This record gives sequence, C-alpha cells and structure tokens, in this order.
Amino acid sequence: MRGVAAKLLPWFEENRRLLPFRQEPSAYHIWVSEIMLQQTRVAAALPYYERFVAELPTPADLAACPPDRLRKLWQGLGYYSRAANMQKAAQQVCDLYGGELPASWDALRALPGIGDYTAGAIASIAFGIPAPAVDGNVLRVFARLFDDDGDITRPATKQLFTQRVMEEMPKATPGPYNEALMELGALVCVPGTPQCEVCPLREICLGYASGRAAALPVKPPKKEKKKAPVTVALVESPAGFLLQRRPARGLLANLWQPLCFEGKSLTREELTKEMEALGVAVTWNEALAPARHVFTHRIWELSGWRGTAPVCPLPEGYAWGRADDAAGDFTVPSAFAAYVPGAGNG
Ligand code: ADE
Repeated sequence: MRGVAAKLLPWFEENRRLLPFRQEPSAYHIWVSEIMLQQTRVAAALPYYERFVAELPTPADLAACPPDRLRKLWQGLGYYSRAANMQKAAQQVCDLYGGELPASWDALRALPGIGDYTAGAIASIAFGIPAPAVDGNVLRVFARLFDDDGDITRPATKQLFTQRVMEEMPKATPGPYNEALMELGALVCVPGTPQCEVCPLREICLGYASGRAAALPVKPPKKEKKKAPVTVALVESPAGFLLQRRPARGLLANLWQPLCFEGKSLTREELTKEMEALGVAVTWNEALAPARHVFTHRIWELSGWRGTAPVCPLPEGYAWGRADDAAGDFTVPSAFAAYVPGAGNG
C-alpha cells in the first residue's frame, strides 16, 4: 500500500469536473458515458451524450430505437459497432433484468460490448461494487506511480497494474477512487509531459522521484497502417446526394456513403459506366480534391469525381439523401467529411 486513496480522494473532491453524467449517476448514464468515452475525448463526447440520453432516457428506449436513428445519434463519434452493441445489450437488459442494468460485475460483463473496464466502471461508480476500472489513463498513472516500464499493451502488465489498483482501493468508496484515477490521468498525469507540480501523488510517486515519469508508460511502436485507394463518385441531384448503404457487416456497417470503390482507382470513364448501370445520367464537373481518412487499422486515400444528375428511381440499397439533416436517416461517416456536407460531425 502506498496510500494513494488518502491523497487522491480529497484532490478529486476539489478538482473533479462537473460532467453531466456525474450529476445523475444512474447505471444507464454511467454506461452511456463510458461507452462514448472509449476512443473519444470528453469535450467531443459531451454534446453526443446530452442528445443521446435526452432522446433515449432508459434502456427500454435504447432497445426500441430504430437502428438508422441510433446510428444518426452516433454520427461523428466513430466506432459505430459500439452503438449496435449497446442496443443489443439494452434488449438483453429488458429481457433478463426488467429494464434495469444488473448490480453485478459478472452480469454486466456478460452483456454485449461491455468489457472488463466498462463492467468495472458501472459496477463501482453506479453500484459501489469494489471492482477495478483500468483504462489507458489508469495504466499511465500506475506506470508512473510505480516507475514500472512494463509494456502496458501486454495482458500480464495490465494484470499486475490492476492488482496494484485493487490493493490501493478503499473498499467503501470504489466509485470515487476509480473516477479519481481517471480524472488524474485526464487532467494532471497526462500523456507526454505530466503536471507533477500540481499532482496530489507527487510525494509517493516513484516515477517522479526517478525523473522518468514523462517517459512512461512504455508501449511498443505502432504498426504501420495499410493504405487503400478509394474512388468516390459524388453525384448531387435536387433531392440530395447519390448514397449507397454499406454492407451489414464489417467496417462502418449499415452506414451510408457516396458511391465508392474501396481498394480501387477508377477513371472517370469507369465511373460513368457504373452510373449507367444504376440508371443515373451524370454530368461530371470536376475532380475531387484528394483526401485521407485514418482508421485504427487502415488509411483511406480518397479521390474521384464530382457531378450532377437529375433525380431518378434507384435500386434497393441506394437513395438520394443528405447527411446534414439531423432528423434524417442517412448517417454518413466522417471518412467522407471532405466531400459530403454533414458527414461525421462536420
Ligand atoms: N474517461 C472515461 N471515463 C471517465 C470518467 N468517468 N471520468 C473521467 N474521465 C473518464
């Protein structure tokens, strides 16, 4: 025991941000916020959180939400499978637990999209269950606190750090302790250069004592991402853009996009043939400025042509539509933000 909680909890009391999910910390609110905050910064997630819980205030509302509407509420947050998994989980919560999230780590962990971290966050913050909630922030804090240069992407390192998190946990207040660790990682023990001069744990921090805090945690170098060309046909009619629905599985499942060809560089003539096959009489105007979009495992290099066409009937899976209508059904991912108004949050 290094006496972490005794120093950390008073600091948290003074310095915690007044975030909306901290005002009414129901299990549902904690769940929604923790899922949104995975891979997304607090400032970026807040407007999404407010809109989501206003429109879907209970697990039953989420369970019943039309999937196109749910994707629209998520448009711009990325990692859309998080929303689909939440809906599946909400349906199970209604079927198995009468519409309330269960007050059990094991039962939470068994729901779709809820991993060790999220189960621990909900269990501890909403239900006061002494479970760890170890995210990237907490791994960074503990790597520095123990001056430990273990590779935090290795399961064995994560397990050891989690054990240390539990050894320091005050069993009566696991929620504030877990949240305080995350908050310290977000506000003080930040990536890069930590703000040790204002840190409540400075006196007990071995990384501070050794002068190595800024060099921790240790992660292996990132793998280089594969690049793929994507040819886009951005065709606009008076009824909106020509959109196609992506397949129901895989990357950006079920979202809408301008007609595009992944992994292929098509010429203008080839695009014209594709338009003819759809029955769209396109007039090309100009080449699209090249754009890039970086995903977790790949990079899209987008280019193509912009054109106009009269409105015409389209086959199943295609539609004329706009992404900048917040009430509409067409969710277009940020990957197309350079071309499609309203794609992502742009
Ligand atoms: N990041 C993820 N969850 C958080 C929380 N509950 N408080 C602060 N930052 C977070």
